[in-house]
Amino acid sequence: MKLNIAVLPGDGIGPEVTQQAIKVLKAIATEFDHTFNFRTALVGAIAIDETGNPLPEETLDLCKASDAILFGAIGDPKYDNDPSAKVRPEQGLLALRKNLGLYANIRPVKAYETLLDRSPLKEENIRGTNISIYRELTGGIYFGEKKLNKDETEASDLCIYTKEEIERITHLAFKAARSRRKKVTLVDKANVLESSRLWRKVVKEIALEYKDVELDFLFVDNAAMQLILNPKQFDVILTENMFGDIISDEASVIGGSIGLLASASIGGKIGLFEPIHGSFPQGKGKGIANPIASILSAAMLLEHFGLHEEASRIEDAVDKSLELKITTPDLSKVKEGITTEKVGDFIEDYILNPEDTNINFTNIHLGQSTII
Ligand code: IPM
Ligand code: MN
Repeated sequence: MKLNIAVLPGDGIGPEVTQQAIKVLKAIATEFDHTFNFRTALVGAIAIDETGNPLPEETLDLCKASDAILFGAIGDPKYDNDPSAKVRPEQGLLALRKNLGLYANIRPVKAYETLLDRSPLKEENIRGTNISIYRELTGGIYFGEKKLNKDETEASDLCIYTKEEIERITHLAFKAARSRRKKVTLVDKANVLESSRLWRKVVKEIALEYKDVELDFLFVDNAAMQLILNPKQFDVILTENMFGDIISDEASVIGGSIGLLASASIGGKIGLFEPIHGSFPQGKGKGIANPIASILSAAMLLEHFGLHEEASRIEDAVDKSLELKITTPDLSKVKEGITTEKVGDFIEDYILNPEDTNINFTNIHLGQSTII
């Protein structure tokens, strides 16, 4: 298969983790005889610095002319602490999602058997957790009208949803549940919000078309607690934009690190694949950023094009790296951990030569542990 992939590394650790994902995709192309072309463009704070625009026209044009987008991360502290900034890096990502019609953001969360002790949650509570979060991505409070009065003493953000916006992602969530454990949990705040009541009504209607899938409802405050108390009860979680943003960061604690969580944003002609973590500016250039979320996002990209075997090869290599504890400091018991690049090297090598690499890297790894 030939794929043109737009690469938007963005800010902070974005470029270094994305580089590892590209390396892994190149290994897959070699192994399976595909042609993947990569073209890079600016987005986020770096794009503001260079062009004044967080999503330059050139970047949007490149994305539109590509088959898929591999996205790094955006954000910079100089904007976070400046409420008066008129232009912000995040606007680049939001505009991209909106422009490309990427209304469904899929975030898989699982507890890796080899990492159970890395989560602050009790092993017996998280073992076996496997959740797919379907977060609506182009509506709700993120995109509703924003207001600030003249003397800057009153502000509001409108949370607005249409029936159609709810319907399209709901169908995707139910279809996904059919090939999983056949359960959808709608997370909302229907006891307070009118928009949530519309979600409930529309989702209930659509559920009639999927009688083989069980549907239940949870208020978001309760869902936040249930995710920690008993995450195994969830299969597919369906929710609106803001709630999905919050509970997916929370759910990352189950896996042991936010550095593991990948995502796919789909719905339009072109899909966007990105780690859910942010730009972690403090970690930039130190080799401590976990590249796995970006690498697994690349696996989701392949899955999106029906390249199942290729995606599994990446997932197996990631599993192997975790099993052998070839991990960055966020997951390592050894303070130094292994660098971003080394983790990428291992995964790349394991894809190219599963047997050899296993032995070589185990030795290297053991060597490092004994020195420490
Ligand atoms: C995410 C991020 C973004 C969001 C930010 C960077 C705009 O937190 O993808 O989860 O809030 O959607
Ligand atoms: Mn987020």
